[in-house]
Order: sequence, then structure tokens, then C-alpha cells
Amino acid sequence: MTFSAVIVAAGSGTRAGPGQAKQWRLLAGKPVLRWSVEAFLAAGASEIVIVTSEDGELAVGETLNGLPGWRIARGGATRALSVQAGLSALAARPGDEHVLVHDAARPFLRSDTIERLLTALRGAEGAIPALPVADTLKRAEAGARLATTSRDNLWRAQTPQAFRRDVLVSAYSAWASTDEPTDDAQVVEAAGGRVMIAQGDPLLMKLTYPEDFAMAERLAGAARVTRVGQGFDAHRWGPGDSVWLCGVEITHDETLIGHSDADAGLHALTDALLGAIGEGDIGDHFPPTDPQWKGAASDKFLIHAADLVRAKGGVIINVDVTLICERPKIKPHRAAMRERLAEILSLPLDRVSVKATTTEKMGFTGRGEGLAAQAVVAVETPA
Ligand code: CTP
Ligand code: MG
Repeated sequence: MTFSAVIVAAGSGTRAGPGQAKQWRLLAGKPVLRWSVEAFLAAGASEIVIVTSEDGELAVGETLNGLPGWRIARGGATRALSVQAGLSALAARPGDEHVLVHDAARPFLRSDTIERLLTALRGAEGAIPALPVADTLKRAEAGARLATTSRDNLWRAQTPQAFRRDVLVSAYSAWASTDEPTDDAQVVEAAGGRVMIAQGDPLLMKLTYPEDFAMAERLAGAARVTRVGQGFDAHRWGPGDSVWLCGVEITHDETLIGHSDADAGLHALTDALLGAIGEGDIGDHFPPTDPQWKGAASDKFLIHAADLVRAKGGVIINVDVTLICERPKIKPHRAAMRERLAEILSLPLDRVSVKATTTEKMGFTGRGEGLAAQAVVAVETPA
């Protein structure tokens, strides 16, 4: 089922305290609004309209830098007016009649919530994510005794809320009350539309008050996982006068034999990155049978693996390579190797390590038959 999305981000975030409006603030280094846009893109939204105030229009470009598929609409004085502005800005695409309306202030949207909403929408005019109320409810009027209210059949409504687009548009035109609706389902309910409840998500909390940011910061950490990958490679020594190791050419009385430039350091590191994200190994991506990789500079392989990490929304935390050989001496070249790896991976130098060891003349590296390399990486990706 295709769908478009309207994200309302035109509020001033008054209750969240002074400073930048909450939708532009950073959570785990990423602007609040960007979290939702990435979630909608990952779930396959055909179009995303971001509704912002005049001031916000300046911030959007930087906030969503590099993301495709979104456009801006100018918001109104109330949330309801902003939603309507967003609906009007949607391209009229035939067959794309489902729209999800979302608060920018709810950053932790996950694809499974979107799937549940679209499924619930099949038999109805609207579907909302909601959670049953778990706390005991008290009514407390000033000066009066406390009264306990039944929580039976009470739900906490979240966003995004999913609708047939024409139903939502006409329900908003028919809204006659002078009261502000506090969500979109209310408008469709008032027009007689059937709105279903889909299972909500406790992570879909709304940032409202200053203290919500501390909790969200913790959740943002929980929304990402750290993965580890390891790689190993070995090449045989043969006649030659220089060798490539960790992207640096070293003068030597032998060379490593291989289909590409035989840079075992870069190969081990490439495999470690691929391993961390479950993307197979270097041979899957660059088959040794393919003549185009004959003599290839191996930084290409590493750049490809790093691009795959980024495409998964991941970042490389650190990399650590060990070269295992009796000769050449690695130490004089270590600084250059670290610098080259840091440059290829766009990492600060202290996140890149190159080490070397001999095997005390034991085994194939000890006998000088070949050189081996191993690498370990840590990568952080969305959970
Ligand atoms: N919103 C909007 N246009 C408005 C008011 C609100 O697009 N005129 C958006 C907000 O940006 C937010 C969502 O509606 O993403 C939910 O509103 P709320 O949490 O109340 O945010 P704010 O109105 O920004 O905050 P506050 O009420 O504390 O000022
Ligand atoms: Mg508000």
C-alpha cells in the first residue's frame, strides 16, 4: 500500500522551554525532525510534506541535508491549520490516497507501527496508534476531594495517524466546532468516519516539556546498536620491489601476489566492515574472477564497504588492523598507514589503529612465505 506523509513542524515548542524550537534540537546528534523523516523514507513513503513556520523554512534544508523525497509547506497559527496546509501541498497522485499525519515532536517512529496503521486502515477511514492507559486516573479539581476515574476503554492516542486522504480533507472542511481538535482522528470521528486503533509504541513519546529531552536522549541511544566485525586476509610473497599495505606503498625486496594490489590490510578491514553489517565478504562484492579488479587499488573496496555502512544509517566507531609478518618492518610506516585509513574512512586519527607483530619465525608468516592481516571494527547502526 503506498502512502504519503505530512509532518507538522510549525509549532513554537513553548512548553519545552527557551531556545530553539524542539523540532530542530539534536537528539543523539540528529535533529528531532530528521528522525521522523528517515523513518518515513525507510518505510517507503512516496512523498513527505514538512509543514514549517517562516523561520523554520531556513532550518529545514540543513536539518534534512542529503535526504530525498520531501518538500515544504507553510504552517498556520494552530496545529489543525498546519495539518490542512500540509494536506493541500500533497501532490494529487492517483492511487496514492493514504496519508499519514505525524507530529515532528515524536521522533522515534518505527516501520512496524506504520505497517500496523496501513493494515488497520484497510477496513476503515482512519487508523491511529494508541496505548491503553496503565496508570490509575484521578480527577482533581481545585479544593475538591480526589476522585478516581475508571481507565477502562481509555487509550492514549499517538501519531502518525493514517487516513484516506479525501476523508481527512473533507472532515477538516466540515469541522464546525470553535474548539481546537487535539488530533486528526477527532476531526474524522466528528464527521462520522470510522477510526480504528492499531497498537501504539511506547517509544513514540511526544517531546513536550524540557525534562522529556533527557528521557528521549536515553531512548535515542537505545534506538541504535553497536555491531562488531572482524576480517582476515593473507597473501603470498613473490618477486617484486614494493608492497601495498593499508593503502601505503612501501619499498621492499618482494611484493605480495594477488588479483588486485594484494593489500592484505585493506582487504581484512573491508571484510570486517562487511561483516559488521552482514553484507557478505569482499569476494561477493568484487569477484576475483572479474577482470576489472585485476591490479585494482584496494582503497576502492574499502570505500565501497564504508558506503554500505552509511547506506544503512550506520557510522564507523573505530577500526583496528594488525599486520602479521617478519619483514618489512611496519613501524616506520604506521603513522602514514593510519593517516591513509583515516582519510579513506573520514575518521579522526584516534579512531584508527594499525599494529604489527611477527610470529617469532613460526608458521607461514614466520617462514616468510606470506603476510597476514586481521582487522576488527565497531559500527553503530539503527537497531
Ligand atoms: N504544530 C504545527 N503548527 C502549529 C502548532 C503545532 O505544526 N501551529 C506542530 C508542532 O510543531 C508539533 C505538533 O504540531 O510537531 C504537536 O504540537 P505540540 O506538541 O503542541 O508542539 P508545539 O505547539 O510546538 O509546542 P507548544 O504547544 O509547547 O508550544
Ligand atoms: Mg502546541
